[in-house]
Formats: sequence, structure tokens, C-alpha cells
Amino acid sequence: MKAIVVGTGYVGLVTGACLADVGIHVACIDIDQEKIDRLKQGILPIYEPGLEEIVHRNAEKGRLQFSTRLDEHIAGADAILIAVGTPPDEDGSADLKHVLNVADEIGEKLQDYAVIATKSTVPVGTSLKVKAAVEAAMNRRGQHIPFDVASNPEFLKEGAAVRDFQSPDRVVIGTESERARSVLEQLYKPFQLNRHRVIYMDIASAEMTKYAANAMLATRISFMNDIANLCEAVGADINQVRSGIGADPRIGSKFLYAGAGYGGSCFPKDVKALIHTGREHGQRLRLLEAVEAINNDQKQLLFKKLQAALGKDLQGKQIAVWGLAFKPQTDDVREAPALSLIDALIKAGAIIRAYDPVAVEEACKHIPHPVTYTRDEYEALEQADALLLLTEWPEFRLPDWERVKSLMRRPLVLDGRNIYNPAQLRQQGFEYHGIGIPLR
Ligand code: UDX
Repeated sequence: MKAIVVGTGYVGLVTGACLADVGIHVACIDIDQEKIDRLKQGILPIYEPGLEEIVHRNAEKGRLQFSTRLDEHIAGADAILIAVGTPPDEDGSADLKHVLNVADEIGEKLQDYAVIATKSTVPVGTSLKVKAAVEAAMNRRGQHIPFDVASNPEFLKEGAAVRDFQSPDRVVIGTESERARSVLEQLYKPFQLNRHRVIYMDIASAEMTKYAANAMLATRISFMNDIANLCEAVGADINQVRSGIGADPRIGSKFLYAGAGYGGSCFPKDVKALIHTGREHGQRLRLLEAVEAINNDQKQLLFKKLQAALGKDLQGKQIAVWGLAFKPQTDDVREAPALSLIDALIKAGAIIRAYDPVAVEEACKHIPHPVTYTRDEYEALEQADALLLLTEWPEFRLPDWERVKSLMRRPLVLDGRNIYNPAQLRQQGFEYHGIGIPLR
């Protein structure tokens, strides 16, 4: 089999590499010449556990190629997977410019039948737009090559993307022809060893599934954050409440962690885009509007907690920040609570010393302020009036608390991910605040 993956971002690169790893001949295409040159030298644009090794291994075997030229690789491709970005427009809708440009180019260059599957997260109806764009390009060239469009949304989690691809809990495939279905069935056959389910459906439902899944997960998080804040007010403990409700199999125990808010490249963008799609169809998604509003407030919650502890005026206060990435095992800081929080703190006159095991370089690009990035977590604590834990990296879990205390000016810990034991810290002389944890 031969597949083409257009877009060497997060989804495209993981998809291309993992498909090549099971013996499929894959060409990864991107318009960014520099990115392609670097990939040819084995330099990856993102950090993802296990990915580099797979890229190197398959590139060496010649099964994984990188190029800016779709036309040079398109011959003989059974499937063309579109995995380019869909950044949000001003109004929250997904910008389909890149997806449709790719469709246009495929229409110009296609030589024989292929399935054109969209992997990027795109609004319902996009596959039909892709189809129209391919057809329009074929009309221009006056040559009609048979093809099918399909939707094959991606459910990869950052930090676990390779594992998620290799043993997915489901593969969703939306098609409108038997032929397309059988091509995609072949493509994913090697992964069926891993007990996973391939779920076939119509195209619109496949497109909707991706948004509905992310919106549901974001809803769980905002729900728990809302309840956590009430817990704190009434003297209940969100961790105990979580265990209690998570034991009900109808609820389940996953994705119920209260914290400093969800971030990343998917949840905030997808929730916004779905709200926008609803409006376009005269259907207000009031629940998701609340999910988004709660999350925005939650990202500022530690700022308020800090003011409650240190006083309203944060001018000159030294704040240590542990964790910048939106979650552990990634260098991605997009929409991370750390960004908006650090921004607010600096505007309030606070001085920030921050440490993250891998995300500092990315943070520098997104935070224009003068933040001091330290070489380790302890250096960030020097003379600190407070420690803000924002990403639950494993290495932050068991610090040497005596050393932490000796470095800080004031032993104040604001635990934005509820990873520490409140009783133990308080016993050791720290002032501890979590999310939804009673004060005493
Ligand atoms: C998510 C989906 O999980 C994935 O299926 C989809 O394809 C892309 O979006 P990802 O963005 O990588 O993946 O992150 P995820 O692990 O889902 O976490 C998202 C955010 O939610 C993080 O900021 C995390 O800290 C937060 N979160 C997660 C919570 O606050 N509480 C939880 O219980 C779980």
C-alpha cells in the first residue's frame, strides 16, 4: 500500500511515521521547505515520546519520505490523508484555507483512483467542500479521475500520540462508498492486532464524532472545576468527591481531575468551533458556552488565590512557576494556563521565575514578557513568595520539601493540579492551597 500524508504537523507526522512502521510506503508532504529539509536530516519539529526513533528507522528503510512536492509522489497512492492545520478564525470557526488548498492541488495532480481522507479536525460538511474543490480543479484541467472523499478524525493525545496511534481504542471512518471503505480498511488492518475497533459511519457523523468527543471531555473537566470551587466553599474535598462519583461505571473515573483549567491545541479550539457551528445552524450550544466560560475563569483562579494569600497588590512579589506546558510529556504551551496566568501576574507587577523540563523554548515564543527561566525547579524558588504548580510533570511530584522551604521567602504552595498531599505539606509548615481542597 502507498499513502500520502499532507501536513507534517503533529497529527500528520505521527500518522505518517506510524503507517510507515507497519510497512506502508508513506510520503509526507509539507509546503514548508525548511521543515522538510530538517525532517530529511532526521530533525523533528515537535517533541513526542517514541516518534523520533520511528521516523529515523523508517526513513532509513526508505519507507518514509519527506517532500514539498505532492506531484512527485501522488502516482499510485491508495490513500491521501489531509492533516494540515485548521487554526481558529477571529470568530472561533475553523479556518479551512489550508485544507481546501490541498484539495485543490490534489485535484490538479491526481493520476488514478485514491481515497482523499480528512484527518484534520474540520466542521461537519468539510469533506463535501473538499470533494467540490477537487472536482473544480479537475474541471479546470479538463480531466476526471475517479476519487472518493472520507473523514478519518484523529483522537491522538499529545505525549501519548504514538501509543494512541498504534493501539487506538477506536478508529472512526466516515465514507460514502464501499471502495473507499475497503481502502481505509486495508490501511488500518495492521493495527487490528491491538484489539481495537474500527467504526464505520457516514461522513457527517464521523466529522461530528471528533467534536462531540472533545466537547464531552472538556465538559467533564469544566464540570469538575465548577464543583471543585463549590467544594472549597462548603468544606468538601474534590478528590474524595471524584473517587465517590467515579466509582459509578456510568460516570467512570477518567477525566475527572479538577485543576487550573484545560489547554492545548484541541479542547479550547474545538469547543469554540462547535459553538460556532451551532450558531451557524441556529442552535445555541449553551452547555458548551458555559464550559468555555468556566475554563477561562479557571485559568485565572490561581491569580485570585494568590491575591487572597498575599494581598491584592502583587507588585514586586516573586513567584516561582513549576510547569509551562499545557500538560506533562509535551513541550506544547498553546492555551496553557501558564500563559494567561503569567501574563496577568506580570501585568500586576509580579516577578516570575519559571521552570519546565521541556517547554521553555516554546514558552519563550509565546510569552513576550521578561520571565526568568531557570535550569531546575529549585532555582526557580529562590526568594519566592509563592510556588505555583501548573503542570504535573512526574519530577515535580516528590520534591525535597525541606530544600523547597529553605529557598522560599514564604512557604506558600498553590497546587494547580492537586498533586500534593495537603495534610503533609501543612504539617511541614507550608501554607497549601489546591483546587477544591478545603482550607484546613
Ligand atoms: C485531547 C484529546 O484527549 C484527544 O483525544 C484529542 O485528539 C485531542 O485533544 P490533548 O489535547 O493532547 O488531547 O490533551 P488531554 O490529555 O486530553 O488533556 C487536555 C487538557 O485537559 C490538559 O490541559 C489537561 O491538563 C486537562 N485535563 C485533563 C484536566 O484538567 N483534567 C482532567 O481530568 C484531564
